[in-house]
Amino acid sequence: MHHFEKIQEIIQNAITGENFTEEPRALYEPISYSLNTGGKRLRPALLLMAVDLYSSDIESFVLPALGIEIFHNFTLVHDDIMDNASLRRNQPTVHAKWDTNTAILSGDAMFIKAYEYILKYEGRKAHAIYRIFNRSAMRVCEGQQYDMNFETSSDVTEKEYLHMIELKTAELIACSLKIGALIGGSDDEEADQLFEFGKNLGMAFQLQDDYLDSFGDEQAFGKNIGGDILADKKTYLLIKAYEKADARDREKLDQLIGNKNIDSQSKIMQVLDIYYRLGIERITAQKAEQYFNDALEILDNLSKTNEEKRPLTELAHSMMKRKK
Ligand code: IPE
Ligand code: IPE
Ligand code: MG
Ligand code: MG
Ligand code: MG
Repeated sequence: MHHFEKIQEIIQNAITGENFTEEPRALYEPISYSLNTGGKRLRPALLLMAVDLYSSDIESFVLPALGIEIFHNFTLVHDDIMDNASLRRNQPTVHAKWDTNTAILSGDAMFIKAYEYILKYEGRKAHAIYRIFNRSAMRVCEGQQYDMNFETSSDVTEKEYLHMIELKTAELIACSLKIGALIGGSDDEEADQLFEFGKNLGMAFQLQDDYLDSFGDEQAFGKNIGGDILADKKTYLLIKAYEKADARDREKLDQLIGNKNIDSQSKIMQVLDIYYRLGIERITAQKAEQYFNDALEILDNLSKTNEEKRPLTELAHSMMKRKK
């Protein structure tokens, strides 16, 4: 069995082996930077762990797994432009370090590279896998558009929020597991079970990302705390705050959200103050926990031994305990 650290190492070695040294440097250097500033490598690890459930040969599938990681990093490079974020993994984001045009074009090139790597899988299920990946990649874009639409909307419901994060985040995590299962030789039903496991895990993961964006430790998280508040993101936290607020807090939130003329730190402090007062920390953690438990139950029902499923179970647990 390959455990998370071992798989992270395999993925890291593969990335180091692909050094993106082509010309012009202004195009390729940000790619190399984006892929080498750390990152937890969750999606390729989940993919390879799913392969490992059905096949003893994970080494042959490292490059297609890398394709998913490159795609993920591409989404982050563009997401940071869209979210006006200047810090990721404790380093300046690509558009902050270079400029926006560079981040757009290097991101585009990463998207192309992602396909190049995924297409290195040429096995029996290749066409099905390309279709699954395409569908998920498109759904990520749909989720990202809803996320942006919601910035300027003041009546986003919990249901709409959950649909948005299912698209922008849970989909790619689920798709990684499903692709891994199919590559490894699972039947369609098992692959779908792993997809559902990933979907629920991904929901928990994004809820926790929203949680950490407000309540996390900046040094550990590696992103600027309060970024979602400044961008007027309709996170689970904000939706619940509105739900719990009395007339006075509601009025205060109305004054703060969408207001680009207040000092940033003051806006963050005032919103956080309301979150703390209304117990949003606990409410959000509970919702994440609920999806996490559903995920574990689905995994439990997969007909493999607990020993075989242990790497996935452990990785899922470590995703929920994360500070970064
Ligand atoms: C960040 O994903 C984007 C979200 C979907 C929340 P990760 O937290 O997996 O990012 P890295 O690659 O480990 O930095
Ligand atoms: C990211 O959501 C989802 C995708 C990149 C597709 P966030 O915008 O919350 O991710 P972070 O917090 O910037 O990593
Ligand atoms: Mg975003
Ligand atoms: Mg973001
Ligand atoms: Mg976030």
